[in-house]
Amino acid sequence: ATANVGVVGLAVMGSNLARNLASRDGNTVAIYNRSRGRTDALVAEHPEAGFVPATTVAEFAASLQRPRTAIIMVKAGAPTDAVIDELVAVFEPGDIIVDGGNAQFADTIRRERAVRETGIDFVGCGISGSEEGALNGPSLMPGGSVQSYETLGPLLTSIAAVAEGEPCVTHVGTDGAGHFVKMVHNGIEYADMQLIAEAYDLIRHGTGRTPAEIAEVFAEWNRGELESYLIEITAEVLRQVDTDTGLPLVDVVLDRAGAKGTGAWTVQTALDLGVPVSGIAEAVFARSVSSRPEQRAAARTLPGPDGFTVDDPEAFVEDVRRSLYASKIIAYSQGFDAIVAGAEHYGWDIRKGDIAAIWRGGCIIRAQFLGRITEAYADDPALVSLLTAPYFATAVADAQDSWRRVVVAATTGGVPAPAFSSSLAYYDSLRAERLPAALVQGQRDFFGAHTYGRIDRPGTFHTRWSGDRSEERVDGA
Ligand code: 6PG
Repeated sequence: ATANVGVVGLAVMGSNLARNLASRDGNTVAIYNRSRGRTDALVAEHPEAGFVPATTVAEFAASLQRPRTAIIMVKAGAPTDAVIDELVAVFEPGDIIVDGGNAQFADTIRRERAVRETGIDFVGCGISGSEEGALNGPSLMPGGSVQSYETLGPLLTSIAAVAEGEPCVTHVGTDGAGHFVKMVHNGIEYADMQLIAEAYDLIRHGTGRTPAEIAEVFAEWNRGELESYLIEITAEVLRQVDTDTGLPLVDVVLDRAGAKGTGAWTVQTALDLGVPVSGIAEAVFARSVSSRPEQRAAARTLPGPDGFTVDDPEAFVEDVRRSLYASKIIAYSQGFDAIVAGAEHYGWDIRKGDIAAIWRGGCIIRAQFLGRITEAYADDPALVSLLTAPYFATAVADAQDSWRRVVVAATTGGVPAPAFSSSLAYYDSLRAERLPAALVQGQRDFFGAHTYGRIDRPGTFHTRWSGDRSEERVDGA
């Protein structure tokens, strides 16, 4: 046995992660793929990596020093289960199997429990940064046992991205915690992308600027508080010209957004946990709306305003920038609420500030801004909402006039801005003195005797709606 780590599954993410591992001092990497062609090709393409190729899973196990560490990089779902079964059959107690795919965290919890019974450690590890991150340094979100992280930590640290001198990896929590946090990362990614897309669309409608001109706006924004990978690549995409037509690429790309499911998982999970992640939900739904061509075609003749033009383009662009920042704060605040609720529900000790810190580099949502989240949780570990941390509260307060103007412009002009609008509605809901939820409680009590509480005294009450409409206390006190 010559290899200290192995990678199973050699599609782009797996190949790149294997190359990343091989490029770090002291590592010898065993590789295995179901179809042998991929393994041979990778060895041939990268002789410098010194890979130890295996043609069977038994050979793969034999090539690994004990205790073995293998990272699985295959499709989430059944393919992952199949590879785990294969490895469990040839591995021994004390070995570690890491799943680096985008697994559903509930699957990871189930797999961890099942694999642990064999004495083998199973670690679900969120990996963000796509192909380039996998190769040069991703953000890594490992779950699994504390003990497994003692072995795994140094290895993961060696391949992780580095942000401000710190590696973008931390032991997130036990069993499925890593994949849970990766899932929320993706939910935030969806929200961030949708907000940026709305900002672009509003500027285009309101000012008539071209995609290339708007690219310059984003490039400029990338030098300020919005500085992030997603803003940076937005400028690149908007600048791109289609070689066939000479049109901006964004104008020839079909406007139907795809999704592989992690955004929807975040929303489904948040619904189960009772956490409002409205910004993320709007982003997921916006992709769904875009991908219903028949309904969109049928609805095209419905009446409504056809856009809007602003008097002062410069001022409007600044309003949009501020709205984007405020809405982004809402999305992150809601995402962290989901992490807090997940941690509570599943018994994970997740250090929120550390999560923000490991997202500063390597991952898709990497941004300077995340340092502010780390600071907010450091200042007040018991913070009930990121939105109320002094820095964020001030940022949103400064932005809110702009935010309202932009949502009004969008609404009046008939330009959809679901994530901008719903984030503002969430902000106003949270800060409202009274919510019409009181009326909803009245309605529930009316038709179903679902009872209500009162503002002036404790207890549970019901109004005898179908009788004399007097009130009774029903909690037996
Ligand atoms: C990452 C990304 C990645 C995700 C893609 C595509 O962190 O590297 O989140 O894991 O698969 O972003 O996601 P959708 O196809 O659902 O947009």
